[in-house]
Amino acid sequence: MFEEGQYFAPVVAKTDGSLTVELGEGHPGLHDPEYRQRRDVIATTADRWTPGEPAPAVAYTDDEHEVWRVVCDDLRGKHRTYACREFLDGKEALGLPADRVPQLEELSDWIEPLTGFRYRPAAGLVPLREFYGALADHGFWATQYVRHHSVPLYTPEPDVLHEVVGHGNTLADRRFTELYEAAGAASRRVESAEALEFVSRVFWFTLEFGVVHEADGLKAYGAGILSSPGEIEEFRSMTILPLDIAAMGTQDYDITHYQEVLFAARSFAEVQDVVGDFWSTCDDDSIARLR
Ligand SMILES: [Fe+2]
Repeated sequence: MFEEGQYFAPVVAKTDGSLTVELGEGHPGLHDPEYRQRRDVIATTADRWTPGEPAPAVAYTDDEHEVWRVVCDDLRGKHRTYACREFLDGKEALGLPADRVPQLEELSDWIEPLTGFRYRPAAGLVPLREFYGALADHGFWATQYVRHHSVPLYTPEPDVLHEVVGHGNTLADRRFTELYEAAGAASRRVESAEALEFVSRVFWFTLEFGVVHEADGLKAYGAGILSSPGEIEEFRSMTILPLDIAAMGTQDYDITHYQEVLFAARSFAEVQDVVGDFWSTCDDDSIARLR
């Protein structure tokens, strides 16, 4: 399975309809029964959500709020140094709380007036067509669990900190959401699995791990970098290639390590022009030519 299939812990349905989240070897929460039970409950609640209902509220524990505080605190200064201008604008517009984990529903109520986007609760991996298709309808599928409290600055999976601190700040700015919408429209237009994978890889190297040159150095605009206290300090030392649709759409990557190859735009306007235009116009034939 491509992309998200590799880094979401598998979720298995039991006969009573509840879900079990299977944490892999080396996961910091693997041997913590309380944490595992919590993950199962949060996944099961999300799975029972139906469109049109409010996203279910999670009663976050003091430990979980503390993880949120630690990560937000760590990222505050790093964002000032390493985040691109457009991300910082979105962050200022959204004004996330730094002292508690916000609920998806209240986040949606803050974001919707800015860009029209609302969160949808995800139990785990959302199939690519569903994940990207939702973007065309201003929907963003997001997990709600918090990483294990023993290592707050690390997570092997996309938790609520990634979804909200990484993506939420970008969902609050039209320059980003126009790109999300275009990726969603592209996913609806392409028919073959290969073309969808190409669209998804371009998303990976831009909205997840994109970097952009600014006057005072290389900055990140990808949510994967901007929600990672470790990776945000390392991306400048990776192999930096120029923004190139054909290269991004065919570049392999390993999700278990920091991304070693990144694609840098000369400006955010170049991302809008080149990546936005690609998603707005691509189809199976144009992608076949690029591949
Ligand atoms: Fe993400």
